[in-house]
Amino acid sequence: MPANKKLLLLPGDGIGPEVMQEVTKVLEFFDKKRIASFDMSEGLVGGASIDATGLPITPDVVARAKGSDAVLFGAVGGPKWDKVGFDVRPEVAILTLRRELGLFANLRPATVLDPLIEASTLKPDVVRGLDIMIVREATGGIYFGEPRGIETLPDGQKRGINTEVYTTSEIERVARVAFDLARQRQGRVCSVEKANVMESGLLWRQTVTALGAAEYADVALSHMYADNCAMQLVRNPRQFDVIVTGNLFGDLLSDLASMCTGSLGMLPSATLGAPDSSGRRLSLYEPIHGSAPDIAGKGVANPLAQTFSLAMLLRYSFDMKEEAALVEKACLSVLEQGLRTPDIMQDGKTRVTTQEMGTAVMRELERLA
Ligand code: NAI
Ligand code: MG
Repeated sequence: MPANKKLLLLPGDGIGPEVMQEVTKVLEFFDKKRIASFDMSEGLVGGASIDATGLPITPDVVARAKGSDAVLFGAVGGPKWDKVGFDVRPEVAILTLRRELGLFANLRPATVLDPLIEASTLKPDVVRGLDIMIVREATGGIYFGEPRGIETLPDGQKRGINTEVYTTSEIERVARVAFDLARQRQGRVCSVEKANVMESGLLWRQTVTALGAAEYADVALSHMYADNCAMQLVRNPRQFDVIVTGNLFGDLLSDLASMCTGSLGMLPSATLGAPDSSGRRLSLYEPIHGSAPDIAGKGVANPLAQTFSLAMLLRYSFDMKEEAALVEKACLSVLEQGLRTPDIMQDGKTRVTTQEMGTAVMRELERLA
């Protein structure tokens, strides 16, 4: 059995703890079957941490995250903490973790599973078998570039400023993630910017092209302007394998791509850090949904986004590809049997609670393992 893997679980607020609970069962299953042994610990983040300590995340939890092999995050936030100051909002927890752990590559898969094909607002023929991976640069670009701010001009009017900044090394490291992923997938990368109107976009295109030619000749590289990419994602999303793009365009395009699938409660994400000298790369995994205060405590949240996040963790942080595929297969199989939490409910299917969904996944794991 592989050595202990240090895993920090940060359930957070709202439905975060409810969906994390179901995923913990999967981890215990691998432990019990002696497939892998996890050294798991839990920490407080978000509103839960504000209530206990006054801070959205404490230095202690950040230090424990840094000392882990991977972090599985639930969700944070809720109306209870909306009135506190901007700096102590629950959402600061995830931003702090991204910054402190240097998590620069956000991976957002958009996958359409056959049993849920009707959930998409796009035609089944357009999305059948959809499997896109968007790689979004997450620590640079216009959200962080200087100068920034709001200034008052001599004539009294105000001017708001944000600056798109990318260096070649920032572009190269995120492009490398995309090229490496493409090699494990269909071997295609589409790099997205606006090189026609932005110098940072032009540098992006030149840098990705040079890296592709020098080190990834086996990967088919194409380029697309971001506005066209938005259109293509709706017109013919299956043309894409891996998309790599900057922070701002990635924010918009990844949300657009997720909605090609139609189900928020199903979609995971990963944010990868930079490898250290020993090749160790600390990464964080979380569902794309938030804390869903409207359904929290009702036992109806869909745990599958969190479960698929765990599958990504197993695949990318622990190189447990077979186990990751097994978890994904168990989820698919449960859907094929017609089990549905309310968010993905369809005519003629069986409505289940969060716990029942989790239990059904465990049953399938036992059967398939
Ligand atoms: P949300 O994703 O929490 O909810 C949007 C809608 O989708 C709601 O109707 C919710 O019930 C539903 N939904 C979400 N996840 C679901 C699941 N697993 N199963 C079934 N239904 C699900 O987004 P919203 O409402 O904009 O934000 C709520 C709170 O979450 C806010 O405080 C926000 O700041 C926070 N948030 C936190 C994120 C994070 O922790 N990374 C990401 C997005 C929002
Ligand atoms: Mg967004």
